Amino acid sequence: MITCTSAAGLFSELKTRIETRQAQVGVIGLGYVGLPLALLYTEAKFRVTGFDIDQHKVATLTSGGSYIYRIPSTEIEAARLQGFCATANFSKLTEMDAIIICVPTPLDEYREPDLSFITNTSRAIAPYLRAGQLVVLESTTYPGTTEEVLVPILEGNGRGLKAARATTANGEDEFFVAFSPEREDPGNDSIARRDIPKVVGGLNSQASELGGALYGSIFNRVVPVSSPAVAEMTKLLENIYRCVNIALVNELKLLSLRMGLDIWEVIEAASTKPFGFQPFYPGPGLGGHCIPVDPYYLSWKAKEWDFQTRFIELAGEINSAMPYHVVSSVSRALNQQGKPLKGAKVLLLGVAYKKDIDDLRESPALTIIELLQKDGAQVSYNDPYFPLIGKGRHYDLQMKCVPVDDVSKYDCVLIVTDHSDYDYAWIVQHASLVVDTRNATRGIQGDNIVRC
Ligand SMILES: NC(=O)c1ccc[n+]([C@@H]2O[C@H](COP(=O)([O-])OP(=O)(O)OC[C@H]3O[C@@H](n4cnc5c(N)ncnc54)[C@H](O)[C@@H]3O)[C@@H](O)[C@H]2O)c1
Repeated sequence: MITCTSAAGLFSELKTRIETRQAQVGVIGLGYVGLPLALLYTEAKFRVTGFDIDQHKVATLTSGGSYIYRIPSTEIEAARLQGFCATANFSKLTEMDAIIICVPTPLDEYREPDLSFITNTSRAIAPYLRAGQLVVLESTTYPGTTEEVLVPILEGNGRGLKAARATTANGEDEFFVAFSPEREDPGNDSIARRDIPKVVGGLNSQASELGGALYGSIFNRVVPVSSPAVAEMTKLLENIYRCVNIALVNELKLLSLRMGLDIWEVIEAASTKPFGFQPFYPGPGLGGHCIPVDPYYLSWKAKEWDFQTRFIELAGEINSAMPYHVVSSVSRALNQQGKPLKGAKVLLLGVAYKKDIDDLRESPALTIIELLQKDGAQVSYNDPYFPLIGKGRHYDLQMKCVPVDDVSKYDCVLIVTDHSDYDYAWIVQHASLVVDTRNATRGIQGDNIVRC
């Protein structure tokens, strides 16, 4: 913990503590983003404390267990031996030199930003804030959140502590604030997390420098930007770029289907261009905590500026229509076999929103199941990562995973997520009808395959 009380001393002492790995790092929100980050800092020999309001997560970590599929409990055990601990006791925040916030930023029922997790966390930090601490927000959000939402709550600490700004003289009652977006691609093992450059925007140059030092100790490259808002907008640009391009390719897939062209073959051929083209792939709809959600943070904020984000709206419209396209494709394919969708037995493969990951959030599979059930289909599912589908923010399915053994007993096998575990050739050989939304059956011949 920092002991210096002089103004400039707070900055240089914290920087030295970070550079010499003496700094205590607190990570708030031990989910898909926060827990791996806490482990990276532990590995880099920092003393790390994880904070979460979820008592079950805290208890699991404390007993050396893991609740994230790709993090084995051996990693948690190893981190615990290095001093990592998890707690729901926020008074310990005062012992931290740097506090990194990784809490959720979902949409509310009106599809508007739900910042309650950020505001609750800020309120939980404020009473324990100290001069000379660095607070970094990592949660994806609209430009302005750090300065307009986080900082005012932190400054309402009742002890006169203020965030260090470019315009303020360096006072001894100041803390430092920055924004640095998480840019991970879950399930993508081709790039190590430390090789993903870390964008950091501080409220003033000292906060940027401290953020740079903090992240520079675990990431190979830090990209400083001029403000938290630039860093916030950078993350949104990246995700909107994906969302819009996925919508484009989804729309072109629908046209290609009508024209009798294979969009996957087209994308593969276009990808041979060595410049100016990046491939995106069509699918059953968007999923995950980021791409279907983040763009709406910006469209909401844009309204404050009397600005309509038309690309975002159009992409949302196209992408959210994809589950409906999948269901009508299943219905048409069954019809070709003289069967109605009502009463048909459908086995849905893969409910995670993406291949080989254990994340169900915003998965299009959930909408597809609901739509199929509404039309009277008898739906079963298999997903190696989900033995059960219970209740979430927008669904209540209460289904149990069934084995992929006798696929011939189903009227249709519907591939929604192309997990590597499945033997697609075997499935095509034994099923009466396979509807494939992901091109998982590429290279496999069969009159019973419908690619949609
Ligand atoms: N998951 C990803 O791949 C990914 C990638 C890039 C960015 N992000 C962004 O990172 C942020 C976190 O996402 P995530 O996937 O880790 O979410 P998550 O739901 O997996 O984890 C969030 C954690 O925060 C905890 N939490 C909620 N409120 C809290 C509070 N007041 N105090 C302490 N803990 C609290 C929850 O219990 C949970 O453990 C989001 O803004 C998300 O958009 C996520």
